[in-house]
Amino acid sequence: MNTLPRPFLFVLIGIAIVAMIPPVIIMRMRSTNQTQPRIHWIQDMDNQPKFRAQHANSLFADGRAMRQPVSGTVARGELRADTHFFQGIANDAWATMFPDQARETPDLLARGQEQFTIYCTPCHGPIGYGDGPVNQRALAVMGDPARSKGTTWVEPKSIHDADIIAQPVGQLFNTITNGVRTMGSYKSRISVRDRWAIVAYMRELQQRETANRANAPSVGQPNNQSEGNQP
Ligand code: HEC
Repeated sequence: MNTLPRPFLFVLIGIAIVAMIPPVIIMRMRSTNQTQPRIHWIQDMDNQPKFRAQHANSLFADGRAMRQPVSGTVARGELRADTHFFQGIANDAWATMFPDQARETPDLLARGQEQFTIYCTPCHGPIGYGDGPVNQRALAVMGDPARSKGTTWVEPKSIHDADIIAQPVGQLFNTITNGVRTMGSYKSRISVRDRWAIVAYMRELQQRETANRANAPSVGQPNNQSEGNQP
């Protein structure tokens, strides 16, 4: 077999080296910070004069670029006429049943457990006795006048208190949605369906602990480690 002629080989090597220059430049440009916007072949209206959120705009009388929704209008998909699902109210009273959009299925309970652990456990504790780490720390601070500096602390309520067990599911839903007394609202952080999921999980916890207390009267105290006294 013939080998390649020498000059041809040099030209090939030369082309290979030159061909590596553009990718090296591109890699370098991509990994370093530039003050100029990068070359943008397809503009897609990415760079254009515009008003950003919270900026001023002299076009409007109030000088704001951000506009309020026209009063009396409802954005698409935002009509919340279903009071059962969105407010926990059915027939002008706290709903006693779960809404159709959030039926008590194993999936809903699992989601509720996850969300309860994220949002409620810090104060209310893993089982809901009001003994979460935030409360424990607050009590430790309150026990030391030098650190508490005259502030007050309202302990998170136990969800196993008789008055909370007696509350309809709609009222529990409302507590998460709007908060209650010193407890804040979670409506901006937890979706409507997830709030119902948490309610379902709270009910599950209440029933489990009630059953546990009935089975073993001596294990009635809050115990933040226990998962109940399962066999
Ligand atoms: C930052 C701490 C904190 C977090 C987090 C918290 N709570 Fe509370 N919760 C409280 C406090 C404090 C109270 C008692 C309020 C009072 O009596 O002023 C309370 C009260 C309650 C009550 C009793 C309401 C009543 O009618 O008396 C329920 C039910 C409840 N919380 C559920 C929840 C659920 C569900 C979550 C999670 C979505 C949650 N809480 C997250 C602090 C918290």
